[in-house]
Amino acid sequence: IPVDPFDLVIFGGTGDLARRKILPGLYRRFQAGQMTDAGRIIGAARADLTEESFRAFVREAVEEFTPAARRDEASLAEFLKHIRYVAIDAKGEGGWPQLKALMRADVVRAFYFSVAPALFGDLAERLHAHAIADAQSRIVVEKPFGRDLETARALNAVLAQHFDEHQIYRIDHYLGKETVQNLMAVRFANILFEPLWKAEYIDHVQITVAETVDVSGRGAYYDKSGAMRDMVQNHLMQLLCLIAMEPPYHFDPDAVRDEKLKVIRALDPVAPEDIVRGQYRANGKAGDSYADHAENPESRTESYIALKAHISNWRWKGTPFYLRTGKKLRARSSEIAITFKEPPHSIFDDERGWRENVLVIRLQPNEGMNLMVMIKEPGPGGMRLMQVPLDMSFAETVGADLDDVPDAYERLIMDVIRGNQTLFMRGDEVEAAWAWADPIIQGWETRGDRPQLYDAGSSGPEDALMLMHRDGRRWRDIR
Ligand code: BG6
Repeated sequence: IPVDPFDLVIFGGTGDLARRKILPGLYRRFQAGQMTDAGRIIGAARADLTEESFRAFVREAVEEFTPAARRDEASLAEFLKHIRYVAIDAKGEGGWPQLKALMRADVVRAFYFSVAPALFGDLAERLHAHAIADAQSRIVVEKPFGRDLETARALNAVLAQHFDEHQIYRIDHYLGKETVQNLMAVRFANILFEPLWKAEYIDHVQITVAETVDVSGRGAYYDKSGAMRDMVQNHLMQLLCLIAMEPPYHFDPDAVRDEKLKVIRALDPVAPEDIVRGQYRANGKAGDSYADHAENPESRTESYIALKAHISNWRWKGTPFYLRTGKKLRARSSEIAITFKEPPHSIFDDERGWRENVLVIRLQPNEGMNLMVMIKEPGPGGMRLMQVPLDMSFAETVGADLDDVPDAYERLIMDVIRGNQTLFMRGDEVEAAWAWADPIIQGWETRGDRPQLYDAGSSGPEDALMLMHRDGRRWRDIR
């Protein structure tokens, strides 16, 4: 369904995110007919570019980040006609009158702040001073949304001076992923799981986001951040919320976000012994360790973290949520595994084949769901048990070409134009997540803990295995 006519201004229009995600994403929506001829994209950045040279930049970005089979010259040339550019000084007055002159009346106005958070206040202020933004306009901001509770509050306060909460779209691109949204469909459109979805029946939950990439090229940012701030406070937290939240009364922005907020607020503090931090070391190849990539031989920043979280509410009391994420691991693999408890009583003599029921939701790659169930081992061997998967690969089952499914950014930008905030984080949610993460980070900072080294290409530090073994459980393999 095509979206309404819009002017989308991308501050930081020549930056990396614009080049990799926003511009190619918009092209694909244009190609799909969702962004109509009445949509317009205005790049805004410090560089003194002509419209022609910005268009050339957009062309290159689209060509580099869209597979050849998915683009064509005719639609690209057409798309470029919708591109404008203004050189703008975020901290001064240069360019603002020109931007104002470019904006059309009676279309959706959206402003993407793809810039350092330190500039949010300047941009918000000038958009208002020059009467470019009004009460209908929308702004889009990216993570990192602060680096702790205090800075997140300050950012929220700066934005709130000029924009209402319903105008602010805080992106967590995990919420735009097809399978992450599917989590909500699986939970709330099936009666099957809901009665079992609680501590009484669920032994534990594992959430894994494993990556093979390293931090080279972005070491300066990453070294000040680390896996806890970069991934857990936002992406893994969102996944945990979608698994743990109560059914919202309706699939609408505040109903969903209210329920997520309650989960975050119910999270217990995490004990130091329930946290394992790791840092990758070169595995054979000199110069390839975290310390090399971060250009900080003394760095104590974690490129891996595993922790055990508890949610203190009626539904989850007693069921631990184990979270882990890291760079430079064996495989790129993200999944959520929900392990159920044993049946209350066994009627079989031979229990050797018995395993717990596990519901595995694979987020990437090979999106799908797998339910591990027990059956009788076929054949004449008597009543022996074995575990088999009820396997549903989304690509195979739905016949969908998952490459054709909009990428997270494409979907989220279209949601901004549509004015749908369901998949965006509310200010109080972000603050609550920091309120949980802050003491954890402060804890290891004051103790002066060093992360444990792990080999690049491995499954992470040894101690992370212990985190589960100690509880009589084990992580699923990363593959
Ligand atoms: C980003 C993090 O938010 O998410 C990166 O800053 C990480 O460090 C990335 O690599 C992972 O996203 P995806 O979509 O590749 O799983």
